[in-house]
Formats: sequence, structure tokens, C-alpha cells
Amino acid sequence: MKDISHLVRSIPASVTLAVNDKAKALQQAGQDIIALAGGDPDFPTPPHIVEAAFQAIQKGATHYPAPMKGIMPLLEAIAVKMEQENHLHCDPRTDIVVTPGGKWAIYLALAALINPGDEIIYLEPVWVSYPPMIKLAGGQPVAVSLSAADNYRITEELLLTKVTPFTKAIMLNTPSNPTGRVLTWEELKAITKVAIEHDLYIISDEIYEKLVFDDHKHISIGSLPAMGERTLTINGLSKAYAMTGWRLGWLAGPTPIMKVAARMNSQTVSSAATFTMHAAVAALQGPQDFVEEMRLSYLVRRDFMVKALNEIEGIACQNVEGAFYLFPSFPGSKKDSLGLAEALLDHVGIAGTPGIAFGSSGEGHVRFSIATAMGDLERAVERLAQSAHKLMDA
Ligand SMILES: Cc1ncc(COP(=O)(O)O)c(C=O)c1O
Repeated sequence: MKDISHLVRSIPASVTLAVNDKAKALQQAGQDIIALAGGDPDFPTPPHIVEAAFQAIQKGATHYPAPMKGIMPLLEAIAVKMEQENHLHCDPRTDIVVTPGGKWAIYLALAALINPGDEIIYLEPVWVSYPPMIKLAGGQPVAVSLSAADNYRITEELLLTKVTPFTKAIMLNTPSNPTGRVLTWEELKAITKVAIEHDLYIISDEIYEKLVFDDHKHISIGSLPAMGERTLTINGLSKAYAMTGWRLGWLAGPTPIMKVAARMNSQTVSSAATFTMHAAVAALQGPQDFVEEMRLSYLVRRDFMVKALNEIEGIACQNVEGAFYLFPSFPGSKKDSLGLAEALLDHVGIAGTPGIAFGSSGEGHVRFSIATAMGDLERAVERLAQSAHKLMDA
């Protein structure tokens, strides 16, 4: 048989999925595993959104949408949302493509920009899917390693260490999965300076924008002066509206890039699901109070977990500024993050994602999701308090 694709073969399997699979297998075998490895809100999708989908299906929104890149009411609702909340000016007719999930919007952005060998810079610890997506789109992933000790701060100097004549774009994720960092105005200004001076695009993944805590503020980099023309913004409903299974995201940016992105979307996935688009209009235009209620729940969970984890000997957990993950380290243990995640699963009954999945600067950490019922978080803390010593040996 002839060889299958070398490129696709070089893409590693998702460590997150591997942990989830092992956790599920243990659960099926009767073990009580507390699942903190996923990134799926534990809240149901709000009923008025579900109702809008039912109605759309009943009215026959079960065929291809027109236009394929998004029904006009949704493109308009997204444009209004981006103008009002993000200060991004998008023409709904030309500058937005609705995608099946934010993830495809990220790939679309990369595919629309990359020529073979182009380098794409990202900040590490990085969400697991960025490096494989860059490779699949024909680019070279280039990591800027950020340090926990400096609260994962990005500076102009750090960025410049990785900029070369081949750099095409910088990928950002704010608030960040897994570190919870929310990029500040100063950091965004520094990134902007590098992007303008070196003629780079920005791919800005803002999927966690609604989940920001304390005094931190989400700022869309595309709204900074002169950045609209070089920024592609990704967003979607998965996290803020508890709609991961609906697969609804979007990419927005300068018209010439969006033109090719729309072409690529239609030649690959065709479109997002039509009735999901109708539900998305209801999500964006309907009441927003539950978004805030969910945020407040995550805030209570964050406060509880950060305090409780720091009270356990051998574990250190930085406060997080946004998103719904904690990224503690285990200074009391000699294990690497894979060893830690394995021991957590086998000896403590907790599934977490090993930090190495987020790049080498995630080593020594494990990511816990707090998109998990408070009762489970309390049980997790109890178990850790009793059994953390089992993680601490070499
Ligand atoms: C940083 C980041 N971007 C994008 C996504 C994709 O979300 P979606 O479910 O909309 O594809 C995720 C999901 O986990 C994520 O963590």
C-alpha cells in the first residue's frame, strides 16, 4: 500500500482526548473519576436558544443556508456585537464568515494566510490545537515561551527574539487556555508595535472573552489603531453560551482575506448548520443575563479552587484572570506533567490535562477545568488534600 500523508501522520494525537479516554475507560470499569480535563461548560444551553433552534427546524431551516458563509440576520447580529462590544468595524456582507465552531475559524485564518514555510508565532503555554493546525496549513509553528514566574507576560523584547523574515503572523488567545491570562493594554500595544514594524498579521482567538474576572478587561487587538487591516478575529458561542455541541463560531477580518476564507469555507465544510445559525441569532440578540450568571459561577469556583489548592502542601496555584481553567504546578513533586496526570488519575481519581500538552513551557503543570459542578470541585479538593502525598514521590 502507498504511504498515507506524511504531514497528517506527523500530527500528534490530542493529549486532552487521550486523558479523557482513559478517564472514561476507568469510569466504565466502575471507578469514581472526577473529570477536570475537558473544556465544556457544565451548564445547559439556555432554553430560549434551544427553542429558537426547534422553531427554525420546524420552519424548514434544514437545508443549506444562503449565503453559505452565514444567514444575513446572523452576519448582521455578529457585526453589531463586534461593533458594540469589541469596537471592531465589520461589514456583515464582506467581512465575516460563520464556521462550524471557533476551531474551524482558526484553521480558516491560518489557511487563508500561510504560504509554504511561513512562520507563525504563538505564545506558550499554548492551546493544544494551534501548533498542529499551523503545520496542517503548511506553516512552521514558532513558540515564544512565557514564564509562570512572570505571570506569562509578553513583551516586545520576547516577541522580537522569534521574529524572522519568514514570520507571517502572531497568534493570540486572550483570555488564554490554559493559563487564564488576559492580555493587558500594554502587552497588546507591544504586540501591535512588532506587528506593524514587521508587517505581520494577527490571529486573535477571543473565544473566552466573556469570562474575565476581577478588574481585568478583555480588549480586542483589532480595535487598536491601524490594526483592523491586519487582524483576523475568532469568536463563537461554545464557551460563553454553553453551546459547544452546536458548532458555531466565526472569523472576521479585512475584506480581501475574508473573501478567500469564505471560498475555502464553502469548498471544505460548506457552512455551519442552518438551524444552529438561527439559534445563534437568538443567543446574540436575546437576554444576556445568564452569560453573567455563568461567569459569576466560574468566579466562585475559581476563588474556591485557587485558595484550596494553595492550602495543599506541594501544590501552587496562580490566580487566573479569565477563561475557566486553573494551571497549578506541583513544586513538591519530582514527576513530570505526564507522570503527574497519570498519578492523579490512578491514585487520586482526578482527570487533569498534563501541562506538556500545552508545550514545553507548560511542563510541571496540570490543567484543571472549573467548568465543572461545584460538588465535583469540592470532592476533588478533598481527595487532593488526602492523597496529594502520592504525587510527591519521584
Ligand atoms: C483557545 C480555544 N480556542 C478555540 C476553541 C474552539 O472552540 P469551538 O468549540 O468553538 O470550536 C477552544 C475550545 O476548547 C479553545 O480552548
